[in-house]
Amino acid sequence: MDFIAHPSKEVQMTQRGKYIAFEGWEASGKSTQARLLSRRLDAVLTREPGGTALGVAIRDLLLGNGPAPTERAEALLFAADRAQHLAEVVEPALAEGSDVITDRSYGSTLAYQGYGRGQSIEELMRLVEWTSGGLLPDLVILLKVPVETADDRLGDQRDRMESEDVDFANRVVEGFNVLAQADPDRWRVIDGSGSVDEVAERVALAAGVK
Ligand code: TMP
Repeated sequence: MDFIAHPSKEVQMTQRGKYIAFEGWEASGKSTQARLLSRRLDAVLTREPGGTALGVAIRDLLLGNGPAPTERAEALLFAADRAQHLAEVVEPALAEGSDVITDRSYGSTLAYQGYGRGQSIEELMRLVEWTSGGLLPDLVILLKVPVETADDRLGDQRDRMESEDVDFANRVVEGFNVLAQADPDRWRVIDGSGSVDEVAERVALAAGVK
């Protein structure tokens, strides 16, 4: 037991937490499932955009009723939120050994700004890499529900992104599918239909929770 003589060894013994992201189109049930899994794992629950004080302000700029950002400004604002979130919340929690569950991550930038808005996936990937410094989720759970089901769930109260038309929705959904297929070691696609408990069991299985 030589922790005191060599404090750095104590640090090395802390096992890094697991970093899990939930992704999906609007009203896919991912926020509920992220919360349930975080309870099950006793993990830090957070989200993008809006997981920090700065992020809350950025979220309001992005999704509120203020002036609409251009497509590039939108991508950069999501990136700014992520940079702050990773530095302030995610990285410190993982380093302490906590698991972290985030409601959305880099996949949303590629799916919404890339496939949805039509910006270059390659360029966005470079932006994601630069923003994250390589810190990507170990596991991404993509919750899938039909766009029509999501549309019914959303009702009339919609933010800027939720108000996009059905073609945009379909491009984003297809984008998520492509991302999941391209990186099967990281991404798991989960059927989001059925009761909350049924979906939670599928999620737990995918996350390797007993
Ligand atoms: P939500 O947290 O309620 O799902 O809302 C976040 C919205 O922001 C949602 O419409 C997806 C969108 N979004 C992007 O377009 N790009 C991103 O990088 C992230 C994190 C979210």
